[in-house]
This record gives sequence, C-alpha cells and structure tokens, in this order.
Amino acid sequence: MAKYGVPSAFIDLVRDKNNIVDIASKYMTLTKRGSNYWACCPFHTEKTPSFSIKPDGQFFKCFGCGESGNVIGLVMKLENVDFLTAVEILAKNAGLEMPSEKDSELLQRQKRERERMYQIYHLTTDFYHDNLKKYPNSAQANYLKSRQISDEMIEKFKIGASINYDDLPRYLLKQGFKADELYTAGVIGKNEHGMYDFFGNRLIFPIFNGFGDTVAFSGRSVEASPEHTKYKNTPQTPIFNKSEILFGYNFLRELKREHMLDTVIIVEGHIDVIACHQYGFTNTIGCMGTALTTLHAKRIKQLADNVILCLDADSAGANATYKAIDTLKESGLNVKVLRLDRSKAKDPDEFLKKYGKDEFMAQLTSAMDCVDFVLTDSLKKYDLNSNADKSNYVNEALNYISKFSTPAEREIYLVELQKIVKIPIDILRNSMLTQTVESKILEATEPAENVSNKYIQDCKIMVLASILYKKDINIDEVSGLFASDDELSDLYRFFKEKIDNHQDFNASILFDNFDIKKDSLIDKVINYSFSPDEIHKREMADVIANIKRYNSKHERAKLHQALLNATTDEDRMKYLKALNEFDQNNKENK
Ligand code: UTP
Ligand code: MN
Repeated sequence: MAKYGVPSAFIDLVRDKNNIVDIASKYMTLTKRGSNYWACCPFHTEKTPSFSIKPDGQFFKCFGCGESGNVIGLVMKLENVDFLTAVEILAKNAGLEMPSEKDSELLQRQKRERERMYQIYHLTTDFYHDNLKKYPNSAQANYLKSRQISDEMIEKFKIGASINYDDLPRYLLKQGFKADELYTAGVIGKNEHGMYDFFGNRLIFPIFNGFGDTVAFSGRSVEASPEHTKYKNTPQTPIFNKSEILFGYNFLRELKREHMLDTVIIVEGHIDVIACHQYGFTNTIGCMGTALTTLHAKRIKQLADNVILCLDADSAGANATYKAIDTLKESGLNVKVLRLDRSKAKDPDEFLKKYGKDEFMAQLTSAMDCVDFVLTDSLKKYDLNSNADKSNYVNEALNYISKFSTPAEREIYLVELQKIVKIPIDILRNSMLTQTVESKILEATEPAENVSNKYIQDCKIMVLASILYKKDINIDEVSGLFASDDELSDLYRFFKEKIDNHQDFNASILFDNFDIKKDSLIDKVINYSFSPDEIHKREMADVIANIKRYNSKHERAKLHQALLNATTDEDRMKYLKALNEFDQNNKENK
C-alpha cells in the first residue's frame, strides 16, 4: 500500500525514527507529568496546558480543542504543510532519504508538477508587479491611486497589473513552460485565437498561502463597464482551495509567531484588507466574498481566540454575518460583530478613508458581542407589541443562546433577553430546555434498542484498547465479538493482522491507517483510560462475558425472527429446531 506515492513501509519507518516527544519539544516547552508530557496547546490559545503527548502511544491530543494525531500529523499542523511535506521534513530529521525515483515515480512526478506550479505563480506575481512600475500611467496604476493605496501596501501585498492579453503567455513560454501546464495552473486561457492572459487587463492581487507563496490570483476589473465581472479568481488547482484560504493569512501568521496577535478582524474585500493594513490594523484578513467555512474558522482559531466580524454594511453583509457567527462560534471562537452604519460607509475601506484610523478604532472597541448583536439586531425584524412576533423573536433568540457551551454564558444572555422581552427568566430557561430537548429527539433517529448497543460499543472499545496497550488479553479469544462490519471490527482485523505477522504496533500507526476524527470510536480506543490493573482484569472478564451474551442474544433474535417469518411448515420446523439447539448450547450464557 502506498500513500501519496510513498510506500507505506517508508512512512512507517519515518514515524518510528522520529520520537514525537523530541519533535514536539522543538516547537514548545514540554513538562513531564506522570508518564505523559504536557504543554499549552499550539493550536488554540490557553493558559493552562491541555495539550498532552503520550510517549508510549507516540501521539498527541489536546483536551481543549480536540486536535490529535501522530508525529506526522503534528508536523503537518505546526508547519501548516501537507502530508508529503511533513514526511519529508521528518525523513530529513531522521537522516532518511526519500524513496528514490524508481521507487515512486508518481511521488516524484507530483512533486515536480507542484514545484513548477509554484514557480509559475512566483514568476507571474513578479511579472504583474513589475508592470505597475513599467506602466505608471496605466489604468491599473491610476486605479490604485484613486483608491489611495500606498506604495508600501503595493509592495507588501505585491499588487500587480496585467496590461494586455498577450505579454504574460509570451513571457512564460519563453521561460520554458508548456502551454498545458500554464493552462492547468489557471494563469492562461485558451480560445479560437490561441492563448491569452486569464487575468488580461486587470488589477492583480496575488493570494498567498501561509508561507507567503503565491497560490492564486484575483484580478479586479478597473473598467466601469458592466460586462466585465468585477473580480476573476483562479479556479481550484492542486495548490489552491478557496474554501480554505484567507486573504492576508500569511501576514497574521507572522504576527502570531511574534506573539503580537490577540484578535483577528475579518472583512470581505481585498481592498478592505489592504486599507485596514495601511491604517495600521495589520490583524485583518479577508474572506474574499465567500461564506466562511469551518476550514476557514479552524485556520483562524490557530491564529487567535477572538475575532471581530466587520463585513460590508449592505444586507448581503448582514446575512453573511449571521452565517459567519454560527460557523465561527462552533469552532470555539469568541465572536464580536461590528456593523458599520450604512449611511456613513459601505465597507471598512470607505470608512477608514472618510473617518480615519481613530474613528475606526473606536468602532472596533465598541463592537458588540455576537449574541448581544443577534439579540438586538434580530429584534429589528419584530414588533414586540405583537404576541406572534414576540414569540418568534424569543424562539430565535433562545436558539442562539442554547448554542453556548457553558451554563454561565447561557445565563448571562438569558438575563439580557429577559430585559428585552420582560418574560420571567425561569420561563425563558424552561423554553430553552424544551427547545433543546425537542431538537435532540429529532436528531436521535436511532431506535431505542441502540442504548444497549452503546454499552456493547463501550465494551468493545475497552477490549480494543487492551489489545492496543498490550494488556493481558488473548486476541483470538475475542474474535467472535468483532464479526460485524463497523470501524471497530476493522480495527480488530488490523490488530489481528499485525499480531499474526509478528509486527509490533502502537497507537501512532493508527493515525496513518484510519481517519480518526475527534470523539470517533477509534479516538476513544486510543484515549481509553484504564483502571488499575487488578480492577481492569475483573472489568475485562465482565466485559467479555457481556459481549458474548449480547452477541448470542442478537443471534437468537435473528433465529426467532426467521421463525416468525417462515411461511412453510418445513421452514417452521427447521428454525424451531435451530432455536432449541441454540438455547441448549447457550444455557450457561443466560
Ligand atoms: P466587493 O464587491 O465589495 O469588492 O466584493 P471590493 O474588493 O470590496 O471592492 P470595492 O471596495 O467594493 O470597490 C468583496 C469581495 O468579494 C469577492 C472579492 O474577493 C471581493 O474583494 N468578489 C466580489 C469576487 O470574488 N467576485 C466578484 O465578482 C465580486
Ligand atoms: Mn467591498
């Protein structure tokens, strides 16, 4: 089996040669407590350490934000790189050479293609950027002036210009790139006349990844004519995923590294980001007009715990604000909202230019906590003198409040709501509870029988954890318990194969072989906390007996159902006999 073209044996080797404790300690200060190491989580801001590393299992887990993984996953997250790059970094660290070209042609080819794509973007960025100096009277250069964008910002964001449709393809072909790769990279378009600059005649904003390498472009039309779309963006490529990238992210990463980032300001437009940076608000990123995704939110959470949403003042911006609050809140961010007064300015850029830095600062300082915002803003839709309106409003507000994870937070906002609607807080609290329970019932589509399934599942988790952590257990003795087709059975088969082949294993290897989401069943196996040995042994005996009993009950139910479904006397006899035999054999299990 090979992942990304690298033989899995090589990945196993890289993992084995890199002790996660050594690697982690290059990035953070670890403190040993018990058999584990602890640190403040690098993926979210915290004061007391909840980031733990288990040397025996060779994996990390943060009890605050839920991130977990092995040494490869750790490097991916800390360096913000893909799987392959993380393997490369670790291979280098361990003095291992990546498999030779012959071993993995696919890997080499992919790597070359990626490198060439980065090179195309690098050269194109410079080409466009130089155009601005070469053509200081171009429409694009004049447009920048008209928007009062400073030279300093032009340099920082490497803003550029496409002056026509031909220069760029000609230049890149001369550099030795093939038409096909330019097309795949999305910098060149094709039509009946041949190739043309995809962003022809536009003002160019490069989009950088976390390292500051260009991975895409946005081209803004500088003509007022309506037949030109305002922005053209690079389509999805192997190095660019719009639902994950934020405009200006690389600059905030630098701030974070210098410990100078506490709050992230989120705005909509490229020009808004640039204006904010120009006026000193260097903690601003842009969502580039798209709805914020959970991936965006996760990225932001890696930068800071607090955000201020400052989207455009129009109604589209208002709707986007509501959606963004949900997404950001669910990722555990503290969210504040700044809605600019529409009659003053349509967006942060206009506001800054009209009212200046101090006034914008004052606005940011007065940004509302998101729930206060929702409580007061959604109120505008309703007339509290109408009973129907009032009830709708209360329901909407309670729905928001119920999303807070701690009772204390919920209580604070219930008090706010009480002040607005003047309904006793007990009644509000109860309605919120009813709402939550109702939505839980709707979610719970599983039949009630699965309550006992859940217990059985816990038992299986314990058995698998015992195998994983080499507690005294005979893997063949429990084989019957994992006959079904779920992920726990997959895990059992994985262990069985390793043991049969006399291969050693620990938790670390699981992260490369299973997709381990937070709170998934396998995550629970890995993080299983054992009772003291003696007690564990007793629990284990009980658990195995329980699973056996459960399985046999299941089997009996199947036979019983077959008996009920039987349509001929012959079948009825057959199943009755089988059922009797079954009961005879399983007397001791009842
Ligand atoms: P805006 O229309 O507000 O653009 O769209 P802007 O950059 O703020 O420019 P001004 O200040 O209004 O002149 C906000 C963002 O939405 C994305 C761009 O990322 C833009 O910056 N967008 C907009 C597109 O991707 N395509 C479009 O056609 C329009
Ligand atoms: Mn705008």
